[in-house]
Amino acid sequence: MPAVRNALIWDTGRDLAEYGDIVIKDGRISSVTAPNEAEGPILYDCRGKCLVLPGLVNAHTHVSMTLLRGLGEELPLMEWLRKKIFPIEDRLTAQNIRSGADLAVMEMLAAGVTCFADMYYFMDEVAMSVLESGIRAALCRGIMGDDPGKLAENLALAETYNGREGRITVQLGPHAPYTVPRPALEKIAETARDKNLGIHFHWLETKGELDSFRNEYKMEPADYLEQTGLLGAKELILAHCVWHPVDQLPAVARDNVTFVHNPKSNMKLGSGYAPIKEFISSGVRVALGTDGAASNNRLDMWDEMRFAALLHKGYNLDPTVAGAREILKMATVNGSRGVGFRDAGFIAAGQRADMMIVDMDNPRYVGRDPGSVPEFVVYAGSSRDVRATIVDGKVLYKDGEFTTLDSEKILSAASRDRASLTR
Ligand code: NI
Repeated sequence: MPAVRNALIWDTGRDLAEYGDIVIKDGRISSVTAPNEAEGPILYDCRGKCLVLPGLVNAHTHVSMTLLRGLGEELPLMEWLRKKIFPIEDRLTAQNIRSGADLAVMEMLAAGVTCFADMYYFMDEVAMSVLESGIRAALCRGIMGDDPGKLAENLALAETYNGREGRITVQLGPHAPYTVPRPALEKIAETARDKNLGIHFHWLETKGELDSFRNEYKMEPADYLEQTGLLGAKELILAHCVWHPVDQLPAVARDNVTFVHNPKSNMKLGSGYAPIKEFISSGVRVALGTDGAASNNRLDMWDEMRFAALLHKGYNLDPTVAGAREILKMATVNGSRGVGFRDAGFIAAGQRADMMIVDMDNPRYVGRDPGSVPEFVVYAGSSRDVRATIVDGKVLYKDGEFTTLDSEKILSAASRDRASLTR
């Protein structure tokens, strides 16, 4: 059986990193043995110099927005959306969605991302990009307004792709409380429960949204989640949650609910600081995401981890908040579980063989020891250190080369599409 050989291995289930071989069978880890013991083909020989970590999960993004990167810089969220983003989104074609998705998958695979959760449209194109590239994804069709056609499209996406190759989950994708009227949202929540589907929703990204709950809807956000039926979805992925009131966390501390923290996008758009210290202490599952490339502007989860780890220490005046181990938990197993893949996120027998291989033979890792690996990764490491990315036991990226993607073709198609959109 193929194996990743002689690697230093760490995941959030371990106190200390240990050397070993990771043996893979049928897309899953079949065993972790002592180093240089596994027989059979070598997927990657770490020679004791590379670290293996579970693959990173980008739990909230809009991959095709790579084509919109750099547009409308430094505008407030609503102005940015209405003046710059929505007018171009109105003109995006299926071809554009595909080329933007391919570009994003390339960027993410090179940075150790093995799974992403996406909300956009022409989602069949994103699904094809996922199937052809070999990456894992949770997909939904973003629904704005009261539009049964869009819900039907989302259901067709689920019908065709949910569970496909064990690599895709499909959620329903109501966009946000301010873009979907309440009766339509209730209908979506009911449909999700009937079809046993999850929901992916933007939630309290800006202070203005919290003000709307109190001044216009005359209700508290947690009551809205309950009364609309959203809390009953198989999995409820809530993106941002910057302004979710901290006294209303018990209602969402449930196994089917995940708050996705997007620190860089929230900072860049001036939306605020999500109180993740309180989220975590209340038992809410927190994952990490980049949001779209137009508001980040990278799809780099290493960057996101480092930002999250530093930001909350400064904000809380407390260096114990958002520790490296907690941050890696958010970026790996919490993301996997949150987006519907409950058997990924650890380097252990029976888990899906999703992992990244990190070169530690470089200056940033001198001084690490088995007890300080997560701290070196989060505070000193960089996505530049990723040497290989493996999904379902298949090497998709190795030493600068993509095994399933034609990178030149993807770069030229995306450049051409971007030029046509902004001409
Ligand atoms: Ni978003």
